[in-house]
Amino acid sequence: MAPMRRARLRRVRTATQVRRAVAAWRRAGDRVAFVPTMGAIHAGHLSLVARARTSADRVVVSIFVNPLQFAPGEDYGSYPRPRRQDRALLAAARADLLWEPSAAEMYPPDAVTRVRVTGIGDRLEGASRPGHFEGVATVVLKLLNVVMPDEIWLGQKDAQQARLIEQMCRDLFLGVRVRRGATHREPDGLARSSRNAYLTRKERAEAAAISRGLRAALAALEHGERGAAALKREVRRELKAHPLLREDYVAVVDAGSLEPVARVSRRVLIAVAARIGRARLIDNLEWQPRARRGGAS
Ligand code: PAF
Repeated sequence: MAPMRRARLRRVRTATQVRRAVAAWRRAGDRVAFVPTMGAIHAGHLSLVARARTSADRVVVSIFVNPLQFAPGEDYGSYPRPRRQDRALLAAARADLLWEPSAAEMYPPDAVTRVRVTGIGDRLEGASRPGHFEGVATVVLKLLNVVMPDEIWLGQKDAQQARLIEQMCRDLFLGVRVRRGATHREPDGLARSSRNAYLTRKERAEAAAISRGLRAALAALEHGERGAAALKREVRRELKAHPLLREDYVAVVDAGSLEPVARVSRRVLIAVAARIGRARLIDNLEWQPRARRGGAS
């Protein structure tokens, strides 16, 4: 890895500028990591940039509120866009290049190609938000085709998104390593999300019940509970105790295929989506039975 350099965060708008910058780094032998975002940068994003900095020489961040992954009636128009603050945070985090593409370049009127990851993209968030993952896969493939990084960093809070992008990269021979950063949490456990900004003080207090529900399920797993129905009951007990929270789904699924499981016998994802006020929040935990000597538990 190259010695530590300090340059100002360079901001670019076009794909050509990104390609030029990355090509120059590649000529110098640098490894490039990429952190795609929709902005409203928070500690979760910054922890991804920090992880990326430790594993690559150069870090590219994109900010693009991707219209294609929002259904009509969702929060595309009101999604927070605190650009000056985002740029300052990314500069302080020592990202090298910030790409802020325009919608006109990403989606010219004659662009008709869409990417769909079947199965993984149809469950959980895919079922609740039809078209969402087609939008995500399409934009991430476009971004990757411009940046062509060695690795892409994604947050575990969006575990299904990370799994979908892993699958897409594998299926399409993209040759990029998909890395995940742990979910970043507020002190009371609420997963950091740009959409937390929508919460009123009262909603914010109740929203922490989502992660408490997941912790209750984790405690049950650690005590030997393996039934998916019982684990979902643990999560729902917390959600139901908070009248502002409206469950969208609570699911126990195989962490690879995201298909529902009745019993936990391998790595699983317990995923929750709930609405509260204007916000729709998601969170999850991944858990794997400890292998016993001579077999699995
Ligand atoms: O997780 C996000 O912020 C977005 O879904 C992503 C990966 C930047 C694609 O628009």
